[in-house]
Order: sequence, then C-alpha cells, then structure tokens
Amino acid sequence: MTEHEDILGKIVSLAKRRGFIFQGSEIYGGLAGVYDYGPLGVALKNNIKNLWWKMFVEDREDMYGIDAAILMNAKAWEASGHVSGFSDPMVECQNKDCKNKRHRVDHLVGTEIYSEILRRLNDPKVLNPLISKISKEVSDSIPKEIGREPYSGYGEFSARQGVEKKIKEFENKVGVIMQTALAKNKIECPGCGQISWGMPKQFNMMFKTYVGAIENDESVSYLRPETAGGMFVNFKNIVDAFHPKLPFGLAQIGKAFRNEIAPRDFIFRVRELEQMEVEYFVRPSEWEKYFEEWRNRMHAWISEVGIDEAKIHELEVAEADRAHYSKRTIDFEFDYPFGRKELYGLAYRTDFDLSAHAKTSTVDLSYRDEETGERFVPHVIEPSLGLDRTILAVLLSAYREDEMGEEKRVYLAFKPRVAPVTVAVFPLLKNKPELVEKARGIFMDLKAGSSGLKVMFDDNGNIGKRYRRQDEIGTPFCVTIDFETLENDTVTIRERDSGKQERIAVSELAGFIKEKIS
Ligand code: GAP
Repeated sequence: MTEHEDILGKIVSLAKRRGFIFQGSEIYGGLAGVYDYGPLGVALKNNIKNLWWKMFVEDREDMYGIDAAILMNAKAWEASGHVSGFSDPMVECQNKDCKNKRHRVDHLVGTEIYSEILRRLNDPKVLNPLISKISKEVSDSIPKEIGREPYSGYGEFSARQGVEKKIKEFENKVGVIMQTALAKNKIECPGCGQISWGMPKQFNMMFKTYVGAIENDESVSYLRPETAGGMFVNFKNIVDAFHPKLPFGLAQIGKAFRNEIAPRDFIFRVRELEQMEVEYFVRPSEWEKYFEEWRNRMHAWISEVGIDEAKIHELEVAEADRAHYSKRTIDFEFDYPFGRKELYGLAYRTDFDLSAHAKTSTVDLSYRDEETGERFVPHVIEPSLGLDRTILAVLLSAYREDEMGEEKRVYLAFKPRVAPVTVAVFPLLKNKPELVEKARGIFMDLKAGSSGLKVMFDDNGNIGKRYRRQDEIGTPFCVTIDFETLENDTVTIRERDSGKQERIAVSELAGFIKEKIS
C-alpha cells in the first residue's frame, strides 16, 4: 500500500472511530455503496450545506431555493433522456470463483482505449445519444392520430417494440466492439486476474420503483438520479410565482440515487448521494459569460470550504465524454489518494431540458422578456457539486500528522466555519465541583448566545488527552477553566493548529473566537 492510499485508510478509520461516517447497515455486513453519517458527520455536512446555501442562494438576489420531491413522474425522466440513456457499460467476469465480477468497461480499459471504442461507433456523440436518437426516429414515425399518451394504443405499442428491437441491435454491436477491445488489449479482471469476459452491456443506473398498490408499467417511478430534474419541472412555478428577470437560478440540495456498477473508494462513488446544484437560466447569447462567472464562483467555493486548491485541476471534457445534454463541460478534478478524479462538474445544458420537458408535457416552458417582449426558451448553466465528494475532499485536505509536546498527533485542520465543533470547554479537573459548575456556566453561555458557535463540553480524561481528541475531530479552539478562572474570571484558550495558548477574560471569549473565525 502506498503512503497516499494509506491516508484514505486512516481517514476511513478516523471517520468511524470518531463518529463521522459509518458503513450503511453495518451490523448486517453493510450495503455496498451506502454510508451513514454519525453525529460529527452530520454536523460537518450541515455546516457545508449551510455555507453553500448562504454563498449560492442567500447572499444573492437572483437565486430561488427549492426542495423538490425525490420521486417524480416517470415521464420527466423519459423526457430528460435518462430512461433511455443514463447508463454505463458493464461487463461481467465469467470465472465462477471470481469474487469481484462486475466492472465498468470504461474504467477497465482506460480513457484512451475507451475513446477509441467510442470513435468506432462512428458517431461522435456516441452511445447514449445514439440510443436516444434511434428512439426519437422511431417515435417520430408514430402516426399522430395514435395520440400522445405513452402505451395508449396498439400502433404505439408496436412502434415501441420497433424502438426496442433497434436499441437491442445497437447494443449488441456496442457489446461486440467492447468485448473485442477487452480481448485485444488483454485486460485482466481486477477481481481474479483472469481474462474471461462476458458480453458487455449498457446498464441503466436509475433505481426503479412502483407508486401505489399495483406494480405495472403505469405505476413505474424512479428515485431521481440528479437533483436537477426537480428544478427543471419547477421552472414555470418559479416564473409564475416570482416573475424573475433573466438571468436567474434555481438551487437545491438533496439526495440523488444511482445504482453504480462498482461503488468504491469510501464515499467517492456511492449509490445514495447528495448533490448541491444550481440551474442558472440565461439568454442564449450570454451563456459564455455566465459559464465563466460560475467557473470563478466554484473556485471561490473550493477555497471557502477548505479544499486544497493545489489539488484541483480543471478538465475540459471532450465532446464524446460529455453527458447527452451538455454542449460544454468542465470537470473540477481533485487529487484523491486513489487518483485524479472528478469532484464537481460545470455544464452548459443549453435549452435541452426545458425544451424536452415542454415537448413531452405539452406545457409551454418558454420565457417572455418583459422589456423586449421577446419569447424564447432560456439556456442553462449548471454548477453541480456532490456533497459526499466535498466531504471526502475536505477531510483529505484537512488531515495532518505532526508532533506536539514530543508526542505524535493527528489533527483535522478544518476551516472553523465547517468544523463540527468550534469550541470545546473543559473544567481542569472533573472532581472539583466549583470548576465543573463554572465551566458548565461558560459552556451554556457560549451555546445559548446568538454566537453561531458550535460548543462541546468535555471533562473526560486528562487535559492532554482532551486536546488530542478535539484535535482529531478538528475543533479549532479549546477553553480550559482552572482555579485562576475562579479568582479573576479569565480562561486559557488554545488554538488547534499551533497549540498556542493564551489567557483571556471570559467576557471577551465569544467575541475573540468570532473574530478569529470570521
Ligand atoms: N446534474 C448534473 C449531474 O448530476 P454528474 O456529473 O453526473 O452531473 C454531478 O454529477 C456531481 O455529483 C459530480 O461531480 C459528483 O460530485 C457527484 N456525484 C455523481 N455521482 C456520484 C456518486 N456515485 N457518488 C458520489 N458523488 C457523485
């Protein structure tokens, strides 16, 4: 194991030991790609969400926050292209003794070979868009008199079968090309080292469920694979209720679900994730200007939340690798211990989503410019930030090992604003009631004030041990109440990173800390 990989192991262990993050359903052996956040994890998560909400919604005049439902009408995901196209290429190892059979073809072969595969499919916009295109060609050929309702008549049913047949043929072609590439490049199974691949196929990542008592085609629904969908379907509601002027945006923080083929790397690739997303609606001619603005905003966020900027790299995503809705995407990549991988995405989604929803729902989703009287479908810039990946990048950026007082220590150098605990209050001795009473009074005062400080009381073990514990969970300040406090109402305040201690008056405590963290 390399030193870098070891850091991930240390973080996973610290996260469990100190109550940040646990494997989901752990007592039953876990559930792959699912994690539970413990008390400190929730506090960290909430601080990050609040900071994002403040910076991306509250501090601006052009943003409208929403909280849309996770379950949506299945037609919304048909319109957005997710039913036909939100899939990854999956292949299974045929060795019956292999313990890790399922893999993504693109991950196995690497970017270069995968790009070559895509080129061989002789459409620059490749797999998913091509499937959508076939679907569209066939559904356009459905006679109009059959009506718009899906599955409503025999004609549509047989046309749908036509679509499915064409998609099958296409998928078989894709499968053969991928299988050949795996064999030609002698790609071994990471699970067992053998080369014994089955036929690759496209695997749709949406979690399907049924709404109501009857399970049939009519009751199908999906857990949303991106929070974005809930914002596009609420575009008209916001326009009707608030009459915003362009440009303006919708913002949302919430869960999304993806049945990832190979969840891995702790909370990097999970099946139940949380996203913080903005859909920013602009005049078509102005998209480049706002794309740049959001690009800068995302860098400002990265620094604000405490992610190591030296580990951030922008990747201009090639056309063949972009999502079907995007005309331009920049991935913000982070140097994780397991490699340079996507942290966030910034996409120019054009009018793809609003136009597709307008067409499928038959509801007009155009915008009327009150000044010019012009009517058009706005275009969209989308900064999309995964919360779990943010937490992992924040933890990795904050992790430090050093020596203090000739002892090794581990600490998390969180920015004070995101630290789960801002200040810990200690009585010097647990068995001196006068110290405990004074300490609890100071604790309650700090907690009760409108200080916005997150305060913890700790009287367990000697002071050295308490400092180490607080360092390990990233608490920026520790306050000790000793006998001198009883005499002159002063306390010792110790700063996490330097270990430096100073004495200040109790009356100045809250102000002192607030000034340091502002
Ligand atoms: N609405 C656009 C969208 O969902 P995406 O690139 O698929 O685009 C956006 O996802 C962000 O969501 C990613 O940059 C990442 O931060 C996060 N994300 C996506 N899939 C994830 C997964 N399986 N586990 C954790 N985070 C994920």
